[in-house]
Amino acid sequence: MSGKLTSTNTLRVTRIKSVKTENPTTKTYTFTDQRCAKAKPGQFLMLWIPKIDEIPLSIMNTHDNHVSVTVKNIGDATHHLHQMKKGDIIGIRGPFGNHFTLNNGNVLLIAGGTGTAPLLYLAKKLAATAKHLALIIGAKTQNELLFLNQLEPLCTEPPTATTEDGTYGLKCLATQPLEQLLAKKDEEKLSMVYACGPERMTRQIFNLTEKHDVPMEASLERLMRCGIGICGSCMIGKYRVCKDGPVFNSTQLREVKDELGTSKLGFDGNRIPI
Ligand SMILES: Cc1cc2nc3c(=O)[nH]c(=O)nc-3n(C[C@H](O)[C@H](O)[C@H](O)COP(=O)(O)OP(=O)(O)OC[C@H]3O[C@@H](n4cnc5c(N)ncnc54)[C@H](O)[C@@H]3O)c2cc1C
Ligand code: FES
Repeated sequence: MSGKLTSTNTLRVTRIKSVKTENPTTKTYTFTDQRCAKAKPGQFLMLWIPKIDEIPLSIMNTHDNHVSVTVKNIGDATHHLHQMKKGDIIGIRGPFGNHFTLNNGNVLLIAGGTGTAPLLYLAKKLAATAKHLALIIGAKTQNELLFLNQLEPLCTEPPTATTEDGTYGLKCLATQPLEQLLAKKDEEKLSMVYACGPERMTRQIFNLTEKHDVPMEASLERLMRCGIGICGSCMIGKYRVCKDGPVFNSTQLREVKDELGTSKLGFDGNRIPI
């Protein structure tokens, strides 16, 4: 094992610097960590909640030595994290995994739920490289549309927002306006679609980009334990999401399309539906 991997994988103890409530189920945590502050968009870290668990989280922002992650309260570990306050101790390993590539053409970000977090970090970098930056952002309801105010000024055209209950923007799934946009952009073709969100959404985006022959990169989630490619709990096809991903391009997504949005390994190693 190389020295670099060992130090990236060494648990660093740090304290929560700030907690921001984004909506009733989602909070953003900021802390200092020199290594993760150098992470590229799409990379993730393992956050240890003392006496509870260690969970993978995408890096949402970095600034000087500060790192932010945005966490939805869905189960045991995230529930305990949501009870933690400024000054409380957490542990960090990482950053792990690969990252999104920075395209300099006409790009579209399509974000769903907490998947918006890594795409905000990516959008900040793309704003300096991409010719056109468009965004489709979707959620179940208005208060789950994360970071729209921060994303809007980074885009070169007004973002399209969708909610399933119609409380904001278009009343539909985020994938619905995508097909129109892909068709419209046929003359001025999109050079990359970046996606992060529920995997069924990613699957639909994959189908549409394939149909319109547009390349995409998607960040995928699987259950993770080691985060460094050893335990095999995060497999999709022949890939380990923690080490070969979490960002996969169209060629790789084609290879794993039987599993994409349909099934994953559960904690007991058995395959479970998504
Ligand atoms: C690379 C990566 C990046 C991630 N980034 C973020 C992020 O930025 N913000 C965020 O809120 N969450 C993120 N997640 C998901 C997060 O790790 C899980 O929500 C967390 O581990 C759940 O732990 P828990 O103990 O609270 O829930 P559990 O009690 O373990 O599970 C509750 C329910 O959620 C499901 N679940 C657990 N883990 C996952 C998972 N990895 N993907 C999908 N469903 C899961 C379980 O099957 C179960 O149904 C990311 C996951 C990965 C792999
Ligand atoms: S989490 Fe262990 S191999 Fe990916």
